[in-house]
Amino acid sequence: MNNNEVIKHVRGESQFIDDLKLPHDILYGTVLTSEIPHGKIEKIDLGNALSIKGVVQIIDHHDIPGENQIGAIIRDEELLSEGIVKFAGEPILLILSESLDSGREALKEIKVDISPIPAITDPRESFRAGNLIVPPRTFDYGDTDSAWEKCEIVAEGRVESGGQEHFYMETQASLAYPVEKDSVKVLSSTQSPTAVQKTVSGILGIPMNRVEVDVRRLGGGFGGKEDQATPWAAMAALGAYITKRPVKIVLSRSDDIRNTGKRHPFSSDFKIGLDSSGKIIAYEATFYQNCGAYADLSTAILERALFHATNSYYIPNVRVTGISCYTNLPPFTAFRGFGGPQAMFVIESAISKAATEINMSARKIQEMNLLKEGDVFPYGMVTENCNISATWKKLEEKFQVEETYKKIGEFNRKNDHIKKGAAVMPVSFGISFTNKMLNQAGALVHIYTDGSVSVSTGAVEMGQGVNKKMINVAAETLSIPSSRVRVETTNTTRVANTSPTAASSGADLNGMATRSACIGLVKRLRSVAAKSMGVDIDQIKFESGKVFNTGNGQSIMWEELIGKAYAERVSLTSQAYYATPDIYFDKTKERGKPFAYHVFGTALIEAELDVLRGVYKFNRVSIVHDTGKSLDQQTDLGQIEGGFIQGLGWVTVEELLFEEGGKIITGGSSTYKVPDIKFIPDEINVEMMQDLKNPYAVLGSKAVGEPPFMYGIGGYLAVRECLFAAKPDVQLKYDCPLTPEKITISLM
Ligand code: MTE
Ligand code: HPA
Ligand code: MOS
Repeated sequence: MNNNEVIKHVRGESQFIDDLKLPHDILYGTVLTSEIPHGKIEKIDLGNALSIKGVVQIIDHHDIPGENQIGAIIRDEELLSEGIVKFAGEPILLILSESLDSGREALKEIKVDISPIPAITDPRESFRAGNLIVPPRTFDYGDTDSAWEKCEIVAEGRVESGGQEHFYMETQASLAYPVEKDSVKVLSSTQSPTAVQKTVSGILGIPMNRVEVDVRRLGGGFGGKEDQATPWAAMAALGAYITKRPVKIVLSRSDDIRNTGKRHPFSSDFKIGLDSSGKIIAYEATFYQNCGAYADLSTAILERALFHATNSYYIPNVRVTGISCYTNLPPFTAFRGFGGPQAMFVIESAISKAATEINMSARKIQEMNLLKEGDVFPYGMVTENCNISATWKKLEEKFQVEETYKKIGEFNRKNDHIKKGAAVMPVSFGISFTNKMLNQAGALVHIYTDGSVSVSTGAVEMGQGVNKKMINVAAETLSIPSSRVRVETTNTTRVANTSPTAASSGADLNGMATRSACIGLVKRLRSVAAKSMGVDIDQIKFESGKVFNTGNGQSIMWEELIGKAYAERVSLTSQAYYATPDIYFDKTKERGKPFAYHVFGTALIEAELDVLRGVYKFNRVSIVHDTGKSLDQQTDLGQIEGGFIQGLGWVTVEELLFEEGGKIITGGSSTYKVPDIKFIPDEINVEMMQDLKNPYAVLGSKAVGEPPFMYGIGGYLAVRECLFAAKPDVQLKYDCPLTPEKITISLM
């Protein structure tokens, strides 16, 4: 394996927060949360909680020295409730105790009297009640109103997509230490050390330079720790600051599922119009985004949904509206794809419906409408290096798409109890944070006198292999073996003002900064070498850990050169900064170029359904994915396969359920099903298109983290095909996940 983290993981040597040795005076934080989805706190009775052995202190919002506020984009969320609770799981009290057991005992002692207020869980209902985070946004392109009359068929419908629990292996975790009297150091399992630093600073009422945040690695984030690691870190820091003792908070799995946000469920309406040949003439959609109780990242997620409303298709007339609706569910948050999957599920459903009505295969409609070079997205960005057709064609060639469909047809004619189906899923995904400000990164590179190299960036390792990629960038730029490079923890005192590691751009942004820092070092070292070898600087060449005089072929080792540079008093440290150029967006016109570039790819998903039992499986999945010049092939392969499976889980078996009133039903691994090893398709083929070097990211590479997730949508479409083969007149809503339960009911 290339990803050096992996070896440590499988040996159990990697340390996560819960693995760290604890100081003797450690306190455990236990959080008391609301049992009720919406209500007013009337009375809190601590009972005998404070006299339980080991219970040291119980903290409420009055104890917060700074501002009781954690909302990052919109300031609407208290760290500890001041009186109104808006979801079941909302934090009210923080219990600090010398053992976990005593904290849990205290929890049982405390009675919180909450008078209920009616709760809303349906975003359309909250829309009707006017309970929105911000006014609706509409992207308008062409002239949709007059386009309908040019259409041969117009299909309309409603689409539902469910939420999704992140189910990262490591639950939310943090460990905070008091530093002298006035500062704190916080270890947090966060994708955004700077967000933690800033929020802790606000909560404690101390400047950011007294808050150090350090992150070694995460046991998965998937967006669930972009914003929502912050409150737990802030509570640990608050406890440490008040008691002057270290405080550890690690959520149990059930608390994590109950108290934290997930992927946003969307309820959407669509209208799509085609001419008789299958060309899409017009498309309209309205997304009702179920945001949960607090804004969190919802508005940014809605924006990305709007940007991906037309997926990989050029449509001349488009009107898409997004509405961010508050409900009394946990605050929904970032999750791989960040609204993109929800929007793409709607247009793919619309195409599927249109295909049925016009009696043409969805695949033909998809192919006919694929983006071409120079086509314009509904928000004004012009496609460049548009590889979507190239991936589509390569899929046809390599994996015999036409032939596969034919075979499936033949199989279905001969078999009654098993029905097969396939779908093709193209994906075009924009790379850059949609908030322009966040597209910046820094790196700090040291070369020690023995020639070993230390790299610090703002990127957080969460299993996606960004550290390995940074190692490869530094090694390649310095022309030394990758074994000489180490990536340090992500620490706010080494690299400041970092953006979250998110939007698939961690490697892009931090890789550019790392490369630039290393180029700075090479420049200095080149002069040292030239001087020492007595030649011109352009005769110096770095290669494989050596430095050559190209004039006579003589060389010295990298280590020797570093020794010389140190002796010459040349700095062996370099800092660099990167900001993505030429991106902009005008929200008043909803036009601009928000992305540095797009990632493209196409997948073929083949499924089979056991008609009697209602269960399905995936026989073969073939993906052609445009990786650019991969920074690390093993890592990218893992991202493509893993992302796809996570997407497949979202549309098939992962069903997030809440009671009518808003309490979670699927609160553990016994009730919430994630794809397991047996669920994985029998055959997964991945073809990485590497010949198309990307000029807009480091060393010709492309971001890879999120786009493959959306191939999973093809799994929904393929199972749907199986079902229609079994029962052509089946009544089936466009509603994911398409669980075996829903299949069985529809077959009755
Ligand atoms: N892969 C693993 N193993 N674990 C993760 O938490 N997060 C995904 C993706 N791949 C994730 C992952 C998400 S949501 C994003 S945005 C990217 O990785 C972030 O990392 P990158 O920007 O370095 O690609
Ligand atoms: N993607 C992911 N995370 C983000 C974004 C985005 O576009 N904007 C803010 N956080
Ligand atoms: Mo990923 S959802 O941008 O953390």
